[in-house]
Amino acid sequence: LFRNRLEFYAAAKVASSFPVPDLPEVAFAGRSNVGKSSLLNALTRQWGVVRTSDKPGHTRTINFFKLGTKLNLVDLPGYGFAYAKEEVKDAWEELVKEYVTTRSALQRVCLLVDTKWGMKPRDHELIGLMEKSQTKYQIVLTKTDAVPPMDVARRAMQIEENLKANRSIVQPLMIVSSRSGAGIRCLRTALAKISRF
Ligand code: GTP
Ligand code: MG
Repeated sequence: LFRNRLEFYAAAKVASSFPVPDLPEVAFAGRSNVGKSSLLNALTRQWGVVRTSDKPGHTRTINFFKLGTKLNLVDLPGYGFAYAKEEVKDAWEELVKEYVTTRSALQRVCLLVDTKWGMKPRDHELIGLMEKSQTKYQIVLTKTDAVPPMDVARRAMQIEENLKANRSIVQPLMIVSSRSGAGIRCLRTALAKISRF
């Protein structure tokens, strides 16, 4: 599946400009700078189609990509970015919330969590909304290359314990590094089950 060509096809700042749903969609959500855009690159090995940055708050629109004719991948703006103007931040957050709770084509949200920092109030807030709207989501721990293996295991256990009563969560929790490539194949396999064929 991930050998298909990745092609950018739409960007949306408001819900009315979301493209007409045609294929199953997987979206990548999480705080600013957790590595959403980098993970899209690592999954598809098509560096440069999705833009990344070391400055948080880089992705400012909901960006829709086609993976051949099988699956759409959606790069969401990050939330919790401290330096943007309040009204801009609010607009991004509202857009993300609206997308994850209303998008009919959406089959899975990968909620990325930086292994070093763990889950924050805004992550819990988004999870609350997805539980309410019965949006399937999966936790993806990112940047595992940047912390000792023991801390990765501890973080994974902490999150699993914390979310074990949730109903819309898809197991297992994924543990990845876009930089080292660890866990990327495993996530590809999990997502391939969602594609149309
Ligand atoms: P926003 O668009 O601002 O919400 O950020 P994002 O979540 O899309 O993050 P992005 O992929 O742009 O990456 C942010 C920073 O984290 C960049 O400097 C990346 O190089 C770095 N980064 C991404 N993935 C990894 C990883 O697996 N390991 C390490 N060490 N750094 C990473
Ligand atoms: Mg981004």
